Amino acid sequence: MEEEKTTLLLEGATPSILPIPSEMDEHFGRGPGSKGLREVFHNSVMAGSRTRSVLLLHHILSSSYFPEGPIRILDGLGASGIRARRWLTELPPEQSTRLDSHVCDILPESLEWVEKNSERFNLEGQIKLILGDLRSRVLEGGWHWIDLDPYGSPVQFLDPVIQALSRDAILEVTATDTAALTGSSKGPTMRRYGAFVRTDKWAHDSGLRVLMANIARIAARHDRSIEPLLSVWESHHLRVSVRVRRSKQGASSVEKNIGWRIINPTPTELQSSIDAGLHSHGSPERSQPLCFLPFRHPVNHKDRRVSGPLWTGPLTSQEVLSSLNLDVAEKLCVPETESLTSWGFPSNQHESLIEQSRRSITRSLLRFSEEAKVNPSSSLLIVDRLHPHIPLNGPPSPSKLAEVLTESGHPSCVASYPNPAILTSAPWDLIYDLALESSTASLQL
Ligand SMILES: C[S@@+](CC[C@H](N)C(=O)[O-])C[C@H]1O[C@@H](n2cnc3c(N)ncnc32)[C@H](O)[C@@H]1O
Repeated sequence: MEEEKTTLLLEGATPSILPIPSEMDEHFGRGPGSKGLREVFHNSVMAGSRTRSVLLLHHILSSSYFPEGPIRILDGLGASGIRARRWLTELPPEQSTRLDSHVCDILPESLEWVEKNSERFNLEGQIKLILGDLRSRVLEGGWHWIDLDPYGSPVQFLDPVIQALSRDAILEVTATDTAALTGSSKGPTMRRYGAFVRTDKWAHDSGLRVLMANIARIAARHDRSIEPLLSVWESHHLRVSVRVRRSKQGASSVEKNIGWRIINPTPTELQSSIDAGLHSHGSPERSQPLCFLPFRHPVNHKDRRVSGPLWTGPLTSQEVLSSLNLDVAEKLCVPETESLTSWGFPSNQHESLIEQSRRSITRSLLRFSEEAKVNPSSSLLIVDRLHPHIPLNGPPSPSKLAEVLTESGHPSCVASYPNPAILTSAPWDLIYDLALESSTASLQL
């Protein structure tokens, strides 16, 4: 590996040297398909997910979640160790010095690049390398934090990784097997996740919930309960971050948050959902697009309206959402010119590199501050699925609808979701009236 064959990259406020891919093509670096091109995997599309990881770690270390002392943290499928290197480079020193950081990878070449980067960018001795299969190497245990970022599905890693967590820990999980999680590959959805998912406009949300339910059930097997902190769907991947605590009682009540999603529910199903505390909109007698049903509610598995079993509880924590704010992100994840100079970036590129980092972190935090103000048990209402439940001439503007619902005393917002949607827990009768009013108003304009 000669110096001239490497390229110098910046992500957030962290530099990397990486080998130049053997065959450059237009898909390079844009997804799992590009993994064979470099000696070590690197995907710049995941920059946003790594930025959120830095911010989540910053938030947790700023709170009293972990007792004083070192944090055993593992970048479990680390490749060049970019995630671990971002934690160490971007967190303030009083936090980064607490990290007992490890990177595991099955390929020796990957770990060579972790080492090269650590030497070149002043992290020498700060990352311990673990060569081998994560499924066996993780079991030495006691991890306060594990990041799981596999090719495709994380299922094969979940059991050993959850067993290896400390009493109170954080687990972050990426999945790129989106066809399985969104139900478009039915065999893998059932085989890997024990679920069926309706391929509709809620399928991305169902995918996050199916993944969350699987993590919760595996955790429960090991006497642990989970609390979702963050769930994000972005380009080709899903990612969930959860707090995992050892608690037999919490594990035994796992069923409380697992159930089914029913599209076009009957009045009886709506009433059952309301009775189970799963439907804040009320109005069982009025037709509505969807509801959740508890796990024990009998569902007909041949009924094409059903998805699940999936997580029916909140997918995020309001406290975490509000901590992911742009001011903190700019302080931590945008580099200073002196650092860029010391890392070898030509001075005529500094301005554009700083701007690029700023733009990337703004994108990665899109809408979280608005979502933080909304009840975390809100429903995801896809605006073009309000009709025919509401006799609209066209879908209402999500921002307008969220605004009028909020003005009526029910904090609502536009959802960070691939299809135009809002998050709201407002009563259905109010949604009905305001959606109708805003669609009539837009027709009159
Ligand atoms: C998607 S990449 C990880 C990307 C990395 N987290 C990042 O942010 O750039 C998956 C990595 O897992 C490694 N890997 C695959 N199977 C593994 C296993 N069973 N144990 C440990 N590492 C594994 C691969 O060599 C690859 O480097």
